[in-house]
Amino acid sequence: MWSFGLEASEPEVVRCSSCLSTNEQTRAAAFRRPQDRVHYVVAHAALRERLAGYLGCAPAALGFRTGPHGKPELGEGFPATLRYNLSHSGGRALLAVARGCEVGVDLEQMNRDVDMAGVVATHFSATEQRTWAALPPSQKPAGFFHGWVRKEAYVKARGEGLLRNGAAYTVELDPARPAALLADVLVPDAPAHWRIEGLEVAAGFAAALAYAGPVRRVVVREL
Ligand SMILES: CC(C)(COP(=O)(O)OP(=O)(O)OC[C@H]1O[C@@H](n2cnc3c(N)ncnc32)[C@H](O)[C@@H]1OP(=O)(O)O)[C@@H](O)C(=O)NCCC(=O)NCCS
Repeated sequence: MWSFGLEASEPEVVRCSSCLSTNEQTRAAAFRRPQDRVHYVVAHAALRERLAGYLGCAPAALGFRTGPHGKPELGEGFPATLRYNLSHSGGRALLAVARGCEVGVDLEQMNRDVDMAGVVATHFSATEQRTWAALPPSQKPAGFFHGWVRKEAYVKARGEGLLRNGAAYTVELDPARPAALLADVLVPDAPAHWRIEGLEVAAGFAAALAYAGPVRRVVVREL
Protein backbone atom coordinates (compact mmCIF):
# COMPACT_ATOMS: atom_id res chain seq x y z
CA MET A 1 0.00 0.00 0.00
CA TRP A 2 1.29 3.44 -0.89
CA SER A 3 -0.09 6.50 0.90
CA PHE A 4 0.67 9.99 -0.40
CA GLY A 5 -0.40 13.62 -0.49
CA LEU A 6 -1.68 15.15 -3.74
CA GLU A 7 -0.62 18.79 -3.43
CA ALA A 8 2.20 19.85 -5.79
CA SER A 9 3.80 22.97 -7.25
CA GLU A 10 3.09 23.80 -10.92
CA PRO A 11 6.59 22.66 -12.07
CA GLU A 12 6.00 19.35 -10.28
CA VAL A 13 2.59 19.03 -11.96
CA VAL A 14 4.23 19.62 -15.36
CA ARG A 15 6.81 16.91 -14.56
CA CYS A 16 4.05 14.51 -13.47
CA SER A 17 1.96 15.26 -16.61
CA SER A 18 4.79 14.22 -18.88
CA CYS A 19 4.35 10.52 -18.09
CA LEU A 20 0.56 10.53 -18.55
CA SER A 21 -1.15 9.25 -21.70
CA THR A 22 -3.07 11.55 -24.03
CA ASN A 23 -6.32 10.21 -22.54
CA GLU A 24 -5.16 10.96 -19.01
CA GLN A 25 -4.02 14.45 -19.99
CA THR A 26 -7.39 15.11 -21.64
CA ARG A 27 -9.17 13.91 -18.51
CA ALA A 28 -6.96 16.11 -16.34
CA ALA A 29 -7.67 19.17 -18.51
CA ALA A 30 -11.43 18.60 -18.20
CA PHE A 31 -11.53 19.25 -14.44
CA ARG A 32 -13.12 22.63 -13.70
CA ARG A 33 -11.34 23.19 -10.38
CA PRO A 34 -7.54 23.59 -10.76
CA GLN A 35 -7.03 21.68 -7.51
CA ASP A 36 -8.86 18.63 -8.90
CA ARG A 37 -6.60 18.72 -11.98
CA VAL A 38 -3.49 18.81 -9.78
CA HIS A 39 -4.78 15.93 -7.63
CA TYR A 40 -5.63 13.81 -10.67
CA VAL A 41 -2.24 14.41 -12.34
CA VAL A 42 -0.23 13.73 -9.17
CA ALA A 43 -2.26 10.60 -8.33
CA HIS A 44 -1.95 9.09 -11.80
CA ALA A 45 1.74 9.93 -12.15
CA ALA A 46 2.40 8.26 -8.77
CA LEU A 47 0.33 5.25 -9.86
CA ARG A 48 2.39 4.93 -13.06
CA GLU A 49 5.70 5.39 -11.21
CA ARG A 50 4.84 2.71 -8.60
CA LEU A 51 3.60 0.15 -11.14
CA ALA A 52 6.56 0.82 -13.44
CA GLY A 53 8.85 0.20 -10.47
CA TYR A 54 7.33 -3.26 -9.96
CA LEU A 55 7.53 -4.06 -13.68
CA GLY A 56 10.93 -2.53 -14.45
CA CYS A 57 9.70 -0.28 -17.26
CA ALA A 58 9.24 3.45 -17.87
CA PRO A 59 6.10 5.00 -16.29
CA ALA A 60 5.02 6.42 -19.67
CA ALA A 61 5.26 2.96 -21.27
CA LEU A 62 2.39 1.51 -19.24
CA GLY A 63 -0.98 0.87 -20.87
CA PHE A 64 -4.32 0.50 -19.12
CA ARG A 65 -7.78 -0.80 -19.88
CA THR A 66 -11.03 -1.05 -17.93
CA GLY A 67 -12.75 -4.21 -16.73
CA PRO A 68 -16.40 -5.02 -17.54
CA HIS A 69 -17.78 -2.53 -14.97
CA GLY A 70 -15.11 0.13 -15.27
CA LYS A 71 -12.38 -1.07 -12.90
CA PRO A 72 -9.04 0.10 -14.31
CA GLU A 73 -6.34 -2.54 -14.77
CA LEU A 74 -3.06 -2.99 -16.65
CA GLY A 75 -3.59 -3.38 -20.37
CA GLU A 76 -2.60 -5.89 -23.02
CA GLY A 77 1.03 -6.99 -22.82
CA PHE A 78 1.41 -6.37 -19.08
CA PRO A 79 1.15 -9.09 -16.43
CA ALA A 80 -2.54 -9.65 -15.65
CA THR A 81 -1.53 -10.93 -12.20
CA LEU A 82 -0.31 -7.52 -11.04
CA ARG A 83 -3.46 -5.97 -9.55
CA TYR A 84 -3.92 -2.48 -8.19
CA ASN A 85 -6.56 -0.03 -7.02
CA LEU A 86 -6.48 3.69 -6.29
CA SER A 87 -8.53 5.92 -3.99
CA HIS A 88 -8.32 9.66 -3.33
CA SER A 89 -10.03 12.01 -0.91
CA GLY A 90 -9.25 15.30 0.82
CA GLY A 91 -5.90 15.85 -0.93
CA ARG A 92 -4.57 12.35 -0.15
CA ALA A 93 -4.39 9.12 -2.11
CA LEU A 94 -3.98 5.48 -1.29
CA LEU A 95 -2.76 2.93 -3.81
CA ALA A 96 -2.96 -0.84 -3.27
CA VAL A 97 -0.72 -3.11 -5.36
CA ALA A 98 -0.66 -6.92 -5.15
CA ARG A 99 0.53 -9.87 -7.17
CA GLY A 100 -1.94 -12.69 -7.84
CA CYS A 101 -4.65 -11.23 -5.66
CA GLU A 102 -7.59 -8.90 -6.43
CA VAL A 103 -7.55 -5.71 -4.36
CA GLY A 104 -9.83 -2.78 -3.65
CA VAL A 105 -9.07 0.27 -1.55
CA ASP A 106 -11.08 3.19 -0.24
CA LEU A 107 -10.00 6.35 1.54
CA GLU A 108 -12.36 9.01 2.92
CA GLN A 109 -11.71 12.21 4.80
CA MET A 110 -13.93 12.04 7.87
CA ASN A 111 -14.81 15.71 8.35
CA ARG A 112 -17.13 15.96 5.39
CA ASP A 113 -20.62 17.34 5.82
CA VAL A 114 -22.49 14.10 5.11
CA ASP A 115 -26.08 13.20 5.95
CA MET A 116 -24.94 10.06 7.77
CA ALA A 117 -28.39 8.87 8.84
CA GLY A 118 -29.72 9.35 5.30
CA VAL A 119 -26.85 7.41 3.70
CA VAL A 120 -27.12 4.62 6.26
CA ALA A 121 -30.88 4.34 5.59
CA THR A 122 -30.44 4.10 1.81
CA HIS A 123 -27.07 2.38 1.24
CA PHE A 124 -26.44 0.18 4.27
CA SER A 125 -27.87 -3.29 4.94
CA ALA A 126 -30.47 -3.93 7.68
CA THR A 127 -27.78 -5.50 9.91
CA GLU A 128 -25.49 -2.49 9.41
CA GLN A 129 -28.37 -0.12 10.17
CA ARG A 130 -29.02 -1.91 13.48
CA THR A 131 -25.32 -1.86 14.41
CA TRP A 132 -25.02 1.84 13.58
CA ALA A 133 -28.21 2.70 15.51
CA ALA A 134 -26.81 0.91 18.59
CA LEU A 135 -23.53 2.87 18.60
CA PRO A 136 -23.26 5.68 21.18
CA PRO A 137 -23.55 9.13 19.51
CA SER A 138 -19.82 9.78 19.95
CA GLN A 139 -19.03 6.60 17.95
CA LYS A 140 -21.51 7.20 15.12
CA PRO A 141 -19.18 9.25 12.81
CA ALA A 142 -16.35 6.69 13.18
CA GLY A 143 -18.82 3.82 12.63
CA PHE A 144 -20.19 5.51 9.55
CA PHE A 145 -16.89 6.38 7.86
CA HIS A 146 -15.08 3.16 8.74
CA GLY A 147 -18.15 1.21 7.62
CA TRP A 148 -18.36 3.23 4.40
CA VAL A 149 -14.72 2.62 3.42
CA ARG A 150 -15.02 -1.10 4.25
CA LYS A 151 -18.07 -1.32 1.96
CA GLU A 152 -16.45 0.69 -0.83
CA ALA A 153 -13.18 -1.26 -0.65
CA TYR A 154 -15.12 -4.52 -1.13
CA VAL A 155 -17.15 -3.15 -4.06
CA LYS A 156 -14.02 -1.67 -5.63
CA ALA A 157 -12.10 -4.93 -5.26
CA ARG A 158 -14.91 -6.74 -7.06
CA GLY A 159 -14.86 -3.97 -9.70
CA GLU A 160 -18.64 -3.64 -9.61
CA GLY A 161 -18.85 0.12 -9.16
CA LEU A 162 -22.26 1.72 -9.04
CA LEU A 163 -23.95 -1.51 -10.09
CA ARG A 164 -23.74 -2.84 -6.56
CA ASN A 165 -26.59 -2.24 -4.12
CA GLY A 166 -24.94 -1.37 -0.80
CA ALA A 167 -27.84 -2.89 1.15
CA ALA A 168 -27.13 -6.37 -0.27
CA TYR A 169 -23.90 -6.95 1.63
CA THR A 170 -22.81 -6.39 5.20
CA VAL A 171 -19.49 -5.38 6.70
CA GLU A 172 -18.50 -5.07 10.34
CA LEU A 173 -19.53 -1.51 11.24
CA ASP A 174 -18.54 -1.34 14.89
CA PRO A 175 -15.23 0.63 14.98
CA ALA A 176 -14.23 -1.36 18.08
CA ARG A 177 -14.30 -4.66 16.13
CA PRO A 178 -11.94 -5.86 13.36
CA ALA A 179 -13.01 -5.04 9.81
CA ALA A 180 -14.69 -7.96 8.03
CA LEU A 181 -17.16 -8.89 5.32
CA LEU A 182 -20.02 -10.51 7.25
CA ALA A 183 -22.48 -11.38 4.45
CA ASP A 184 -23.21 -10.90 0.77
CA VAL A 185 -26.73 -11.84 -0.32
CA LEU A 186 -25.68 -12.15 -3.98
CA VAL A 187 -22.49 -14.15 -3.28
CA PRO A 188 -23.22 -16.18 -0.13
CA ASP A 189 -19.74 -17.76 0.10
CA ALA A 190 -17.94 -14.40 -0.31
CA PRO A 191 -17.14 -13.96 3.43
CA ALA A 192 -15.09 -17.18 3.24
CA HIS A 193 -12.90 -15.74 0.45
CA TRP A 194 -12.72 -12.01 1.00
CA ARG A 195 -10.82 -10.19 3.72
CA ILE A 196 -11.22 -6.53 4.67
CA GLU A 197 -8.62 -4.68 6.73
CA GLY A 198 -8.96 -1.24 8.27
CA LEU A 199 -5.88 0.95 7.64
CA GLU A 200 -4.37 3.80 9.64
CA VAL A 201 -3.10 6.29 7.05
CA ALA A 202 -3.46 9.82 8.43
CA ALA A 203 -5.36 11.66 11.16
CA GLY A 204 -8.91 12.45 10.08
CA PHE A 205 -9.09 9.77 7.37
CA ALA A 206 -10.77 6.37 7.29
CA ALA A 207 -9.31 3.75 4.96
CA ALA A 208 -9.77 0.08 4.19
CA LEU A 209 -8.36 -2.59 1.91
CA ALA A 210 -10.33 -5.57 0.59
CA TYR A 211 -8.63 -8.56 -1.02
CA ALA A 212 -9.24 -12.12 -2.11
CA GLY A 213 -6.21 -14.35 -2.32
CA PRO A 214 -2.95 -15.13 -0.61
CA VAL A 215 -1.66 -12.02 1.15
CA ARG A 216 1.20 -12.57 3.59
CA ARG A 217 0.97 -9.13 5.15
CA VAL A 218 -0.28 -5.66 4.39
CA VAL A 219 2.31 -2.87 4.57
CA VAL A 220 1.41 0.83 4.23
CA ARG A 221 4.30 3.04 3.07
CA GLU A 222 4.22 6.84 2.91
CA LEU A 223 5.60 8.18 -0.38
C1 LIG B 1 -15.64 4.63 -8.91
C2 LIG B 1 -16.17 4.18 -7.58
C3 LIG B 1 -16.13 2.66 -7.56
C4 LIG B 1 -15.30 4.72 -6.45
O1 LIG B 1 -15.48 6.08 -6.32
P1 LIG B 1 -15.08 6.96 -5.08
O2 LIG B 1 -15.15 6.23 -3.79
O3 LIG B 1 -15.88 8.18 -5.23
O4 LIG B 1 -13.61 7.36 -5.40
P2 LIG B 1 -12.22 6.68 -5.06
O5 LIG B 1 -11.27 7.80 -5.02
O6 LIG B 1 -12.26 5.77 -3.89
O7 LIG B 1 -11.94 5.77 -6.33
C5 LIG B 1 -11.74 6.33 -7.60
C6 LIG B 1 -10.75 5.47 -8.33
O8 LIG B 1 -11.20 4.11 -8.34
C7 LIG B 1 -10.83 3.52 -9.58
N1 LIG B 1 -12.07 2.99 -10.18
C8 LIG B 1 -12.88 3.54 -11.12
N2 LIG B 1 -13.90 2.69 -11.39
C9 LIG B 1 -13.72 1.61 -10.61
C10 LIG B 1 -14.44 0.38 -10.46
N3 LIG B 1 -15.55 0.09 -11.15
N4 LIG B 1 -13.98 -0.53 -9.56
C11 LIG B 1 -12.86 -0.28 -8.86
N5 LIG B 1 -12.13 0.85 -8.96
C12 LIG B 1 -12.57 1.79 -9.83
C13 LIG B 1 -10.16 4.59 -10.44
O9 LIG B 1 -8.76 4.43 -10.31
C14 LIG B 1 -10.61 5.87 -9.78
O10 LIG B 1 -9.63 6.87 -9.85
P3 LIG B 1 -9.63 7.91 -11.07
O11 LIG B 1 -11.01 8.43 -11.19
O12 LIG B 1 -8.64 8.95 -10.65
O13 LIG B 1 -9.20 7.15 -12.27
C15 LIG B 1 -17.60 4.74 -7.30
O14 LIG B 1 -18.01 5.62 -8.27
C16 LIG B 1 -18.64 3.78 -7.07
O15 LIG B 1 -19.16 3.22 -7.96
N6 LIG B 1 -18.95 3.54 -5.79
C17 LIG B 1 -19.90 2.57 -5.36
C18 LIG B 1 -21.05 3.30 -4.72
C19 LIG B 1 -21.79 2.42 -3.76
O16 LIG B 1 -22.83 1.88 -4.04
N7 LIG B 1 -21.25 2.28 -2.57
C20 LIG B 1 -21.86 1.48 -1.57
C21 LIG B 1 -21.00 1.53 -0.35
S1 LIG B 1 -21.86 2.41 0.90
